[in-house]
Amino acid sequence: MAELRLGVNVDHVATVRNARGGAVPDPVRAALLAIDAGADGITAHLREDRRHIRDDDMRRLKAAIAKPLNFEMAATEAMLDIALRVRPRACCLVPENRTERTTEGGLNVVGGFNHLKPFVAELGRAGIRVSLFIEPSAEALEAAAALRAAVVELHTGAWCDALARGERERGDHEFGRLRVAAAQTASLGLECHAGHGLDFDTARTIAALPQIVELNIGHFLIGEAIFVGLAESVRQMRAAMEEGRRQAK
Ligand code: PXP
Repeated sequence: MAELRLGVNVDHVATVRNARGGAVPDPVRAALLAIDAGADGITAHLREDRRHIRDDDMRRLKAAIAKPLNFEMAATEAMLDIALRVRPRACCLVPENRTERTTEGGLNVVGGFNHLKPFVAELGRAGIRVSLFIEPSAEALEAAAALRAAVVELHTGAWCDALARGERERGDHEFGRLRVAAAQTASLGLECHAGHGLDFDTARTIAALPQIVELNIGHFLIGEAIFVGLAESVRQMRAAMEEGRRQAK
């Protein structure tokens, strides 16, 4: 069975820094510490409004970390230029809406197919692995494969939100969609990642889906770091993931 990697999203270290202006807490320091504690890569989202990560953070992250950098971005010309300059290991294309608090849904890969095509192609030509953040649906997966993306990241938000609201049936339904979608990635030749809203329990559960090889986790890990420290938060997440992976068939 493939190894399950943990990508730590450091956006919210920058959120706290920006609340006061100035330079601390530094997302690059958090990234180095997370890697030391067992993260396999670092994820950061350069939003159009620069509400957390800034251009210089991306450059500094790329220069400082020895593990892969996953650059989350909207499919815009301005972001493409920056990504081609930073040259991260991977780019995850996400939908972006200025009024949202976080990335609320997956990319419209079917309706936005023609818009996305040149972005996937150009990033791929530059040797950057392209991931598409999508809803767990057959249509989205087929469109992602037709776009020749290397990776899909399944949006786990609807499942995690249902569980957080105590909606068991809805949660089971959403998890079923994730299970079916993960299984479908194998036949489409897509590498399968997942993320959004994951905590220790949901990471442990989803780790049992054998096709998923990477989880990208931010908000919960950085929040938990307030209580136990970032290194311990990352270590506990790794332990939860490994426990879940042992249940995979
Ligand atoms: N993956 C993607 C594509 C995201 O946009 C986000 C949120 O920025 C995450 C994972 C991490 O989500 P969370 O912060 O809820 O763990």
